[in-house]
Amino acid sequence: MEKKKIGVIFGGCSPEHDVSLESSYSVIKNMNKEKYDCILIGITKNGDWFKFDGDIEDIKNNTWEEKGKCTKVVISTNVSDKGLIDLENNTLIKLDAIFPVLHGKNGEDGTVQGLVELSGIPLVGCGVLSSSLCMDKYVSHKLVESYGIKVAKSIVIGNKTEASELSNKLKELTYPVFVKPMRAGSSIGITKIENENNIKMAIEEAFKYDTEIIIEENVEGIEIGCAVLGNDELTVGEVDEIELSSGFFDYTEKYTLKTSKIYVPARISKEISDKAKETAKQIYKILKCKDFARVDLFLTPQGEIYFNEINTIPGFTSHSRYPSMMKEIGISFDQLVDKLISFNI
Ligand SMILES: Nc1ncnc2c1ncn2[C@@H]1O[C@H](COP(=O)(O)OP(=O)(O)O)[C@@H](O)[C@H]1O
Ligand SMILES: [Mg+2]
Repeated sequence: MEKKKIGVIFGGCSPEHDVSLESSYSVIKNMNKEKYDCILIGITKNGDWFKFDGDIEDIKNNTWEEKGKCTKVVISTNVSDKGLIDLENNTLIKLDAIFPVLHGKNGEDGTVQGLVELSGIPLVGCGVLSSSLCMDKYVSHKLVESYGIKVAKSIVIGNKTEASELSNKLKELTYPVFVKPMRAGSSIGITKIENENNIKMAIEEAFKYDTEIIIEENVEGIEIGCAVLGNDELTVGEVDEIELSSGFFDYTEKYTLKTSKIYVPARISKEISDKAKETAKQIYKILKCKDFARVDLFLTPQGEIYFNEINTIPGFTSHSRYPSMMKEIGISFDQLVDKLISFNI
């Protein structure tokens, strides 16, 4: 049987470009090469698209752009093409599916998904609506909350919000609060504020990444996560737990785990774990997810579950949370990649 050609998109015009390189490296490495032919599609930080024919170690090391193995390409939006157009040689490279392994802006937010949907090439992962809904911290909260699931109390401000309106809105909240760009990830641009003294600085920081920001009350308790896989029938991995020694799960902690630790399974009762899994499945369906997503929750000391956020392309390195939660229920990394592709071809 002829091998299926799978386009893996890596990098991206996003503050999370470097994280994507690591996730993509693991996805490519764990793809069954007997079944699939992996076509590597790199997007630079500036947003240029290339087919990359070099060594995948150069993706991991972030040296892929320097090696002269790049050819300018675009995804054809002509449905009869179903492939990439090599702009330098004027050739068409047919694809059987596209797996965007991109995080955050311009990749996890529905933009790339829209392009792939237009092309008629099967897309691995969530589609346009779901990706963009999940990317917006406020819209996703409001939708999930309307189904009776708890979320942190929050306010939203735009970069044109007047100072007086801001100060009125802030009065609705109790400190500590989290100030976040509306659509970002990896904790980029997020600050935890204990009192109003530092609020201005935190707001300025968040506005570096978006034109809208959300300010949320702190939810007391621990952070837990659920890896959800599938479509009509859903599989949920073992629930995990993040143990923080102080502060919050910021960019440094996420990628170094210097002072924090991740437990899989979480140190919670079976009853709570089952409740978290059911809630995660419900949220996955409410937000119309497809193939996979990681649902992040808070568990309060009273045993209440709060929705924090959902990642439609969660971190996918070999030590990332999603694959680790799946491993605990007997699904290895390569099986996971195989399942995600199989849902679509
Ligand atoms: N309302 C909240 N209450 C308590 N901790 C929070 C809250 N919001 C965010 N955090 C902390 O900040 C981290 C990053 O916030 P999150 O909304 O998940 O952003 P990102 O999309 O960048 O991962 C969380 O993992 C958690 O440690
Ligand atoms: Mg998060």
